[in-house]
Amino acid sequence: MSELEKLKSELNSLGKEYAKIKTLPEAERKDFGIKLNQKKEDLLQKIKQAEAAEASKDIEPIDITAPAASNQPIPHFEKGSKHPLMVEIDRVCDIYSRMGFNVIEARTIDDEFNMFEALNFPEGHPARDGYDTFRTAEGFIPPAHTSTMQHRALKKYKKDLENGGQIAVVIPGRVYRNEDVDATHEHTFYQCEGIFVSKDATMGQMLGVLKNFFETYYEQELNIRTQPGYFPFTEPSLEFMIEKPKSLGGKGDGWLEMLGCGMIHPNVLKIAGIDPTKYKGFAWGGGIDRLVMLRYGLTDVRYFESGKLDFLKEF
Ligand code: DAH
Repeated sequence: MSELEKLKSELNSLGKEYAKIKTLPEAERKDFGIKLNQKKEDLLQKIKQAEAAEASKDIEPIDITAPAASNQPIPHFEKGSKHPLMVEIDRVCDIYSRMGFNVIEARTIDDEFNMFEALNFPEGHPARDGYDTFRTAEGFIPPAHTSTMQHRALKKYKKDLENGGQIAVVIPGRVYRNEDVDATHEHTFYQCEGIFVSKDATMGQMLGVLKNFFETYYEQELNIRTQPGYFPFTEPSLEFMIEKPKSLGGKGDGWLEMLGCGMIHPNVLKIAGIDPTKYKGFAWGGGIDRLVMLRYGLTDVRYFESGKLDFLKEF
């Protein structure tokens, strides 16, 4: 007889005990009944446990580390990978950090103040129109350039200047413009902003940093050239170009505009609480998509945002 069977027959035999109650003298019946009920409760409890033990006896324990049974199809997983732009942004940041720049990330939603006022575009300034900005119904702005981070970065690192150091920071970020899309224009793309402020920053230092960056990124010597540009937040403002080398598909005679740059306008420093008579700075900002396209000989910027697996798998 199994343990469970023994318990059940014991429970059955309680029937006889209960029948005895009637035969007992009045005074003993209560005590006898209480004890009997207690015994019945105990038995029921034990039976429940024995039943549970019996039921689980038939369940085979699962070995979660065991290999899949050979007659089962093995599920197929495709390994994902980082998006090529993210890989390249890491390389860009790596190059600048080795030159001593901090890296902070740009925001994907911003406001009128950081997009324009803090960058010395007063209200009604015609250059505001040049940025084809989107706006949310609440009046927020998905940034049209990473320069929206300049004011925040200047404030964040101002202490370093006051402690005798300098501000050196790069800011990669995603930017948005209300433009018609074609092979060389996207409404959503990436930029990298750079800012340097010290007691005596010069344009020469800026050109040195930028030349060094492009030569390291493209792993070759490059010729550079600048031409005058216009941005409300720099004075003077420059457009920075590299000579398209043969290795990047050039004939060695074309110039490519890579970014905008210049000496930070005194008003931009002032608005961030930095005294422009004591400190000087330079800043630059340029597209990452194009930088990457040149490196890999890509001809259509739209692939980056397309989610085309065939394209992504090439990286
Ligand atoms: N934000 C500018 C653009 O998207 C590029 C730029 C120009 C950034 C000059 C700068 C700068 O920091 O100093 O067109």
